[in-house]
Amino acid sequence: MLREKKAKHQPITMLTAYDYPTALAVDHAGLDVILVGDSLAMVVLGYETTLPVTMDEMIHHCRAVSRGARFALLVGDMPFLSYQISAEEALRNAGRFLQEGGMDAVKLEGGRERLAAVEAIVGAGIPVMGHLGLTPQSVHQLGGFRAQGKTASAAQRLVEDALALESAGCFSLVLESIPARLARLVSERLTIPTIGIGAGPHCDGQVLVTHDLLGLFDRFTPRFVKKYADVHGEMARAFAAYKREVEEGVFPAPEHSVDMPDGEWEELIQSLGEAGRDE
Ligand code: KIV
Repeated sequence: MLREKKAKHQPITMLTAYDYPTALAVDHAGLDVILVGDSLAMVVLGYETTLPVTMDEMIHHCRAVSRGARFALLVGDMPFLSYQISAEEALRNAGRFLQEGGMDAVKLEGGRERLAAVEAIVGAGIPVMGHLGLTPQSVHQLGGFRAQGKTASAAQRLVEDALALESAGCFSLVLESIPARLARLVSERLTIPTIGIGAGPHCDGQVLVTHDLLGLFDRFTPRFVKKYADVHGEMARAFAAYKREVEEGVFPAPEHSVDMPDGEWEELIQSLGEAGRDE
């Protein structure tokens, strides 16, 4: 389906989700792909990087998302150290995303150094999405969350990695935070679709972290994010209004309370009164 969209020059749409209600809403909006990203670590669990999130935590959130989404392709993001140690471990963990998490495919970060893992996973019939450019699991090696592929040699390496991932069997490729003209070149050279985040308008599709798009993650917003809502602000307003109304006795109002028929109430009072006299 994604390849068909690339062939027809129809942009692919992808967003992240980590829970049931968000998956429902993203699916209902008709997005092509839902990624249960390891960005979960930062935007939901409050860590500084994506490194601490575990396989079990990812699977837990994948299960919730898979209960909410009916139409979108579901991609589970393989967390740090779930695919780097050996191809065998990579395959076992990728399998868990499908078997336990209800995902349709997995995503993993890296280029030539990940080919054995990609081949093992694809060889078992599990679709793999690649991820090049700013690969957050290598944040310490990259010297921070910074744009990649800005020199000719770095860009050439990225093009080679992209071609190698395609040959290894990846069905699509995320390009994160790289120059727009490099993303365009990669998208033109590959037959598989590219999905950009901070990689300009020429990729075959776009992805954003949903919490960034909604304005729900307030700690920082990458330059490439467009905020389509201010959910953090809306939450703050709602919480303050609730607190004020409870303190002022405005909430709960009669329409929020449950009534009891007069006859039942009188019977209760009478029997309580009689019980009281017995003692
Ligand atoms: O974890 C994530 O949300 C991602 C996207 C930024 C592509 O990898």
